[in-house]
Amino acid sequence: MGSGLPPSSAFLGAIFFALSAFWVFPQLVTAKHAGITRHYKFDIKLQNVTRLCQTKSIVTVNGQFPGPRIIAREGDRVLIKVVNHVQNNITLHWHGVRQLRSGWADGPAYITQCPIQTGQAFVYNFTITGQRGTLFWHAHISWLRATVYGPIVILPKRHVPYPFPQPFKEVPIIFGEWWKADTETVINQATQTGLPPNISDAYTINGLPGPLYNCSVKDTFKLKVKPGKTYLLRLINAALNNELFFSIANHFLTVVEADAVYVKPFKTKTLLLTPGQTTNALLRTKSKSPNATFVIAARPYVSGPAAFDNTTATGLLEYESSSKVKNKIKNKNKLPLLRPVLPRLNDTSFATNYVKKIRSLATAKFPANVPQTVNRRFFFTVGLGLRPCPQNQTCQGPNNTMLTAAVNNVSFVQPNTALLQAHFFNKSKGVYTTDFPSNPPFKFNYSGTPPTNIMVSAGTKVVALPFNTTVELVLQDTSIIAAESHPLHLHGFNFFVVGQGFGNFDPKKDPPKFNLVDPAERNTVSVPAAGWVAIRFLADNPGVWFMHCHLEVHTSWGLKMAWVVMDGKGPKQKLQPPPSDLPKC
Ligand code: C2O
Repeated sequence: MGSGLPPSSAFLGAIFFALSAFWVFPQLVTAKHAGITRHYKFDIKLQNVTRLCQTKSIVTVNGQFPGPRIIAREGDRVLIKVVNHVQNNITLHWHGVRQLRSGWADGPAYITQCPIQTGQAFVYNFTITGQRGTLFWHAHISWLRATVYGPIVILPKRHVPYPFPQPFKEVPIIFGEWWKADTETVINQATQTGLPPNISDAYTINGLPGPLYNCSVKDTFKLKVKPGKTYLLRLINAALNNELFFSIANHFLTVVEADAVYVKPFKTKTLLLTPGQTTNALLRTKSKSPNATFVIAARPYVSGPAAFDNTTATGLLEYESSSKVKNKIKNKNKLPLLRPVLPRLNDTSFATNYVKKIRSLATAKFPANVPQTVNRRFFFTVGLGLRPCPQNQTCQGPNNTMLTAAVNNVSFVQPNTALLQAHFFNKSKGVYTTDFPSNPPFKFNYSGTPPTNIMVSAGTKVVALPFNTTVELVLQDTSIIAAESHPLHLHGFNFFVVGQGFGNFDPKKDPPKFNLVDPAERNTVSVPAAGWVAIRFLADNPGVWFMHCHLEVHTSWGLKMAWVVMDGKGPKQKLQPPPSDLPKC
């Protein structure tokens, strides 16, 4: 990782071919924008990796950590053959890829597919439509995404420029979270005790924690730059349980894209990404080599009282010096080292202001198609709760309970077979019910004093939506056990973030203030601690779509649900039949 994207091969040749084709076969003109098919082979393998002086065997793709980069252009078809060589069941998710009518390739285990078992293979097959920017892929079963993740780079169609200066180089920077212990053991222990899982030991930048950790000087990400150039940083938060601030000492960054949608550019010293969010930012390097090294840092933003990993991952921004300077400075380590000033770990006002700056471009070329009218309104509480200890088990939560999490007081129970198959073959009976509540079962002061009974119910419930329903969904954090922000991720759609606030959502006073002109269009949004966020989306993608908190601990606890979007009447409004190699449960 860390080097720029390879220059597209035979670029001139391609242009020449395109031009001559146009000349000789004018009928090819319509075809020239059609995408190509790109093939990838992902072998799921164990690999020994040493970090923080400790070696462990981790699940990887092709032995790489972080995993390989997927590069495609908007309009391309991507085929990824995944072969499982490990003992664990596996699925992969292409986080943020819309999967128009290709829901079978989405990947969340027991939602759109049964897992790929040991020795088996599955080909994920999808076309990237109407998206360009940075996304990422990750395992979507248990906690395997701790080590199984990598960038997805979506370039614009050929000959289509970015709506910002063409960068000299593009660099994916993916943040992760590292445990010295085996992460499957970490989550299994938590499930046994009913207590929160152990916190991580480090954050990583492209898999490397950097010199603030034990034994990690050699495991430091270095971004080598030339003066006077523009670099496009493709930032991804693949951490499991923490929102992260990101900053580079003495440099401003210009944010140009979020979740593979262009945004109105704005300058900032610090960025904030929740798990599941991606952001492209331009780094303009100093016009002359500054004879200094600049620290790149990522550390958490924390909105609640729970224990968390408060360490900082660091990397280095190094300027290539001219040969003259090189001779003068024999020892690079003698260069002054400048550190960035990051917001406080609990700087909610920074977080709030930052999120408000993200606005859709909303131009003729890149319109913000915000649903202006709403067919169905939903109000979901999201937060923690308690559930009874299973029989034959003792739990360490209050009064022999387990910590859990819920949406509208329903903690989602993972089915034994995939919801999408049950839906497609009309066999939902005994798998799921369509009575997911549109509103909380009872009203209380959501952001204030919690009710005395904080036990939640459990079930595999979904919301069924007719094709092309426009949905408005208000997500309200609760202060049950603890108020804290929840990065909610919706599969299969982008949504518009039309409003947000602190306290309880007011259905009379808040909607008139909604931004229906240029709201951020994303796939993951943070529900502020003891606050709410309102989103709108058009249910134009038939299938079963998972929605969950992208803090893995909360997903494990049941802060998840699913939407079933029915087929439309038109020929292009139906989910395709499942691929023949779809794994069986
Ligand atoms: Cu990136 Cu369902 O997750």
